[in-house]
Amino acid sequence: MQSPRDMGHDTIEHRDVKFDFDLSQLKKHWFNNDPWMTHLFNGLFCAVPDGERWVMQSARKQMGKLKDEKSIETVKRFIKQEASHSREHDLVNAIMLNFGVPADKAEKFFKQVRQKVQAVSSDDMQASIAAAIEHFTAVLSEVLLESPDLFDDMDPKIRSLVYWHMVEETEHKAVSHELFEQTVGKGPKQYLMRVTGLVGTFGFGFYAVFFNMFYLLYADKQLGNVASAVRMLKIIGYQPGFVRKILMACVPYLKPGFHPWERDNRALIAVWKETYQRTGDVLQATEEFRATQGKPMALHKRSAGKRQVKSSNPGAQAA
Ligand SMILES: [Fe+2]
Ligand SMILES: [Fe+2]
Repeated sequence: MQSPRDMGHDTIEHRDVKFDFDLSQLKKHWFNNDPWMTHLFNGLFCAVPDGERWVMQSARKQMGKLKDEKSIETVKRFIKQEASHSREHDLVNAIMLNFGVPADKAEKFFKQVRQKVQAVSSDDMQASIAAAIEHFTAVLSEVLLESPDLFDDMDPKIRSLVYWHMVEETEHKAVSHELFEQTVGKGPKQYLMRVTGLVGTFGFGFYAVFFNMFYLLYADKQLGNVASAVRMLKIIGYQPGFVRKILMACVPYLKPGFHPWERDNRALIAVWKETYQRTGDVLQATEEFRATQGKPMALHKRSAGKRQVKSSNPGAQAA
């Protein structure tokens, strides 16, 4: 048994999952028919493909400084996981466009700011930003994996995409952190850089997600939907309160000796991983995982058609 402090995780595995979505089965407000929650997640998803590619670029650069073959292999597997995530999120963002949600404009906004930050940041600073992004995704994933009620009324395929991504974000949550420590170092100067990366990433991350959310709500003429806004505020601030919990998770990161696996939540994702390994089916893995969390759901048949967005009724809105 390897130590949890080994780079990344001893079982990082590239699961090259490919989804196909049928627009006739999807709703514009795919997150439980709720416009504000949908656009909050759309705002986040618009940052995912480009954010993931930024993390991969940084990992490739830093990987060149590694000597240890085992660590290099871990980083390669991590990059492959992120590549699959960004590819599948591109597909989801394409679905949004099909419903008239201007995801492309929101993605462009994130990309332009990212390029400006990248232009003025050293490789080491970008490695620090990548570690902070991965901390953010790991904490968000843990909170959401422990909140199955949130996903009760979501399309099963989008739900299984979200769960697959969250499981793998948990699985590889330490790779960018270890990569930073192994290639940049652990002294006071590096600590300051790591904390600066966290503050900048969280500041920019929250700004980008909420800016995009308001933009998409405006474009969708849902800004005045007060009931939906109140529901979202309760979810992010109170129960399960994932924005509150993400902000609280900044505190341990500020510790000089912080390591992502000091919070060992491998048991949380064990059922999902075991089921996927046995069946190769993300929907079943999600079903069995949710059953362990007290939330079984009906399995839906996988469509066997070509892997693309199928729109029998373009622009259909079942919301
Ligand atoms: Fe990812
Ligand atoms: Fe990640």
